[in-house]
Amino acid sequence: MTRKSVVAGNWKMNLTLKEGVDLSTNLCQMLSKKPLKSIKKDMEVILFTPFIHLPEVVKIVKGVENVFAGAQNCYSKPSGAYTGEVSASMIRSTEATHVLIGHSERRSLFSEKDEFLAEKVSTALDNDLKVVFCCGENLNERENGNHFEVVNKQIYNGLFWLDEEQFHNIIIAYEPVWAIGTGKTASPEQAQEMHKYIRGLIEKKYGENVSDNISILYGGSCNSKNAEELFENNDVDGGLIGGASLKPAEFFKIIQSF
Ligand code: PGA
Repeated sequence: MTRKSVVAGNWKMNLTLKEGVDLSTNLCQMLSKKPLKSIKKDMEVILFTPFIHLPEVVKIVKGVENVFAGAQNCYSKPSGAYTGEVSASMIRSTEATHVLIGHSERRSLFSEKDEFLAEKVSTALDNDLKVVFCCGENLNERENGNHFEVVNKQIYNGLFWLDEEQFHNIIIAYEPVWAIGTGKTASPEQAQEMHKYIRGLIEKKYGENVSDNISILYGGSCNSKNAEELFENNDVDGGLIGGASLKPAEFFKIIQSF
């Protein structure tokens, strides 16, 4: 196994169905002219769309090598009386392959706690979905020097109960909350420092083989201007891109930043 480079787009609650279809079609056209493997070996692109868009986007990305579709959330229970929620098995039934869990907007706006997120990770893996698990400190925690401790706890509670085999289906996204949607990106040094720390935690828990192979993405105001200096760091394996993933040409430039 080799470590994969990944660029993932998080559309959040944006785009109508038609706009999402157009965006994915456009992007896939660009990628059929310039395939991912010609940009970088072992590279993947994932589009995290709203639930509504998922079946259509799955069809669009299907013919394009190493491009995948995923959901931005799932519920923690397999099925039942949970009005308005969407289960991991429903997501998988669209042939989507990935799910985002623990995004800071879920943690802060919807009060999702570590234990609840761990349940979501469990149901996602049970349903054969790969998980992009988000972690990251807020501004206060960074300024107080608690950022390592915060990220350690999020990863420990959310993921470190998994066995080694399950852990192979995890990608981590480090997203400092103070950088998300603010235009204030972490410096390449800050990103590398935290990514190295996270890889070190994984090495201690699962050994070097696992830590060497896990992809750790940076997220938070990543765009075509700063992607290259972020991605060139040893422990930064790509990005989770919000705002800049909504414009196909901009997102395509980020993809080419390796
Ligand atoms: P941003 O969002 O790129 O708009 O800062 C990133 C994210 O929240 O995943």
